[in-house]
Amino acid sequence: MSAQSASIPRHIAVIMDGNGRWAKQRGLPRIKGHEAGAESVKVLMKSAREAGVEIVTLYAFSVENWTRPQDEVSGLMNLLPRMLSKHEKILHQNETRLRAIGRLDQLPPKTRKELDRVMAATEHYTTRQLVLALSYGGRAEITDAMKSIAEKVKSGELSPEDIEDQTISDHLYAADLPDPDLMIRTSGEHRLSNFLLWQLSYAEFYFAPEFWPDFREEAFGKALTEYGRRQRRFGGVNAC
Ligand code: IPE
Ligand code: IPE
Ligand code: MG
Repeated sequence: MSAQSASIPRHIAVIMDGNGRWAKQRGLPRIKGHEAGAESVKVLMKSAREAGVEIVTLYAFSVENWTRPQDEVSGLMNLLPRMLSKHEKILHQNETRLRAIGRLDQLPPKTRKELDRVMAATEHYTTRQLVLALSYGGRAEITDAMKSIAEKVKSGELSPEDIEDQTISDHLYAADLPDPDLMIRTSGEHRLSNFLLWQLSYAEFYFAPEFWPDFREEAFGKALTEYGRRQRRFGGVNAC
């Protein structure tokens, strides 16, 4: 299916969880789970494109994930640029723009450099977007938005009476993106872990039991089917 229909989410946000447990189950180091998880990203992008999903936001590394053991953090920070260079051609083939949200200045220079390079190389695509949440925290994002709003109030560019919900939305890391329609979390955990706190206000939530490396076409198909059955009301009343 290529056309956008009402039962297909335009924007999907994914908490890719369970890489470590997947590896542990197999007696492998955690980084092997992250590597296997990178393959699931490839599969998800293909399935999402075929279904007609325009935007995919992936929680790849949280602000809290910096507290993990040094070898895991550096393993992840090295994996990202490797995956970006390996799969950049897929982004071009599918006219997908790569973007990133989060405190990107905290990323190691090598990681940041490759990220910036691929983001610049795909900037002109308007068909699809892949958004990576890196060194991302929902509270950090709202805090950063508040700081820029406060600066504008201080300089007289904005007056406090004019601050509305939209003002906050306009100061988020990727302000032009529509809110996600569907949020998927894998590995059987039922929490947000500081992901897109503002943007997920009216998203449908779907929790999958599979660890992220096992979340492939069929599992994604189930999430889409379930989304198609949901009735979104946005606080209103459905005529039925
Ligand atoms: C998610 O998998 C990936 C990242 C947080 C980077 P985890 O690493 O959290 O895997 P589990 O939850 O420990 O199994
Ligand atoms: C959320 O997973 C972050 C990412 C998937 C990048 P975590 O594994 O870090 O979350 P908690 O610790 O289980 O809440
Ligand atoms: Mg986890």
